Amino acid sequence: MITLSGIRPQLRPQLPAQLRPQTWASVRRPLSFSVFRYDPKGNEGAHFDKYEIKKHECGPMVLDALIKIKNEVDPTLAFRRSCREGICGSCAMNINGKNGLACITPIDSGAEETVLRPLPHSFVQRDLVPDLTNFYQQYESVQPWLQRESVPKEGEAECTQSIEDRKKLDGQYECILCACCSTSCPSYWWNPETFLGPQALLAAHRWVTDSRDEATDDRLKQLNDTMKLYRCHNIQNCADACPKNLKPSIAIQRLKEMVEKKLPQ
Ligand code: SF4
Ligand code: SF4
Ligand code: FES
Repeated sequence: MITLSGIRPQLRPQLPAQLRPQTWASVRRPLSFSVFRYDPKGNEGAHFDKYEIKKHECGPMVLDALIKIKNEVDPTLAFRRSCREGICGSCAMNINGKNGLACITPIDSGAEETVLRPLPHSFVQRDLVPDLTNFYQQYESVQPWLQRESVPKEGEAECTQSIEDRKKLDGQYECILCACCSTSCPSYWWNPETFLGPQALLAAHRWVTDSRDEATDDRLKQLNDTMKLYRCHNIQNCADACPKNLKPSIAIQRLKEMVEKKLPQ
């Protein structure tokens, strides 16, 4: 039988952090964190602070470590969190170079240190807290709500939808507005005010594919813009970054196809 230890190190499969075998020494080894710090009212400017905590006293996720650091080491550290189970989207940050949710990202205890930064190319309010004003305004700009002229007559069931039509919304409605996708998109980095970015475009697609909505043409006309929609060059960072495994890049591609098919060029 081949065991992991019998395989040459360079051929060993890389197991996810939480499944790697642990020795007592590795459990006792402190966990190191390098965390981006910025206080707009302070004199220090942007910098990184280092923290060490005992692994056996900490929960398994990056957010557990941040909460421990804030509670026991440095109460000035600022970050957002709420649900602690990947639902609210507020703990989104850049973890070792990849955007993700701190509450569902395991600490890689084999790594020398874990580097935490705010979401890339975002204005920073403080430490790991990004300013998402522009991101939310873009979401609002696609009017993410049901629009209908016709209303059901009295006694009629209201706005029903077939099971097949409802299924078309799967992979879209689950977005938790965490901004991991938009802040990983190079096109969004360069044009954050004019390109809507993958999150807002996914939301726009969610509403143009909703069989109950009657504003499809108006929605597509609004999107038919070289900057708002066509800055997407299909780089796919957004799909890689999404912690809910959604595919904004596919939604954007479909929006382009719908614009070209439905609107006179
Ligand atoms: S596919 Fe489009 S939206 Fe997604 S990262 Fe690439 S350019 Fe950005
Ligand atoms: S599409 Fe995914 S990454 Fe983007 S905001 Fe929604 S949940 Fe977050
Ligand atoms: S705390 Fe809600 S998604 Fe992480």
